[in-house]
Amino acid sequence: MTNSEETEFKSITRAFFEKEWKDGFDIFYEVPVGDRKKYIKFAEYDPRDFSRLDAILQEKNHTVFYIKETDLYKYYKFNILKHLLLGLVQDKPPVKEVFQRVVPVATRILQDYLEIPASDRFLDLLDEIPKVLAEAVGPANLPFRDLFSITLKENATYVHCVNVGLFCLCLGRELNMSREDRETLCLGGLLADIGKKYIPKDVMFKEQELTHEDMRSIRRHPSLGRQALNDLKHYPETVLLMAGEHHESFDGTGYPMGYAREKINTAAPICKIMDVFNALTSRRSYREVMTPIQALTLMKDKIGEQFDPHLLNTFILYTGK
Ligand SMILES: [Fe+2]
Repeated sequence: MTNSEETEFKSITRAFFEKEWKDGFDIFYEVPVGDRKKYIKFAEYDPRDFSRLDAILQEKNHTVFYIKETDLYKYYKFNILKHLLLGLVQDKPPVKEVFQRVVPVATRILQDYLEIPASDRFLDLLDEIPKVLAEAVGPANLPFRDLFSITLKENATYVHCVNVGLFCLCLGRELNMSREDRETLCLGGLLADIGKKYIPKDVMFKEQELTHEDMRSIRRHPSLGRQALNDLKHYPETVLLMAGEHHESFDGTGYPMGYAREKINTAAPICKIMDVFNALTSRRSYREVMTPIQALTLMKDKIGEQFDPHLLNTFILYTGK
């Protein structure tokens, strides 16, 4: 068993079998062999005969199972995403419902990418999400109150990524950006924080005060995310720059490069505003959730410093709609 074979298998819990699969796949369990791990096939999932598998699962003394990443990818591509897109074409739901249907799918893909964790190629499953949302948003845009009610307020990176993508898309509409640019902006928002996958878990979830070294580690995520996206050779430059520059500040006091104003890609400051706004209005262990007005009041104090004045003012106007 080689290391590459180890990375090929992704852990899943029993609840995973209750998802709506249409195709079968092999299920494995893990056994340690020396300092390596071996994956033994012990059952096949057949969606037409789940009761047989259910009996086997109850009999076996395993709570965590493994699936090949290629099967997991196919599950999203040919079951979940296909089901979502077909449903939208058939039902033609109003814009708010389009967002409500898309959010859980994007969240699940990003959760599996970040937590299993799946390889970076998993990210191309998100390609259709901005297209679907941009098509649904008309000239009138989705009202902010509807958008805000749809976003989850959980403190999880995958939830944060989805929210930032949605906020970016709608702010792009307010900025009268072309549909193509809004799709890119949305995709860049969804992916801007994926570099957090490479930050050690004990630092990411630390409850105590962060050390200087912890901060250094966290501040590497823009560069790491940009590098990972660049390696995929799949994304436009704007998406890479949104990942790399979404913590730069208007006045040059941000990180990692300390770029200011025109030196920063035009899409990155949009992402920065949405990133901070979502962080402030989401649950955090160390403080109460802020309302949009509380968050914007705080952010307005940093206008012209952290935030581009035109962009922040446009967002503030949108929040009143
Ligand atoms: Fe970030």
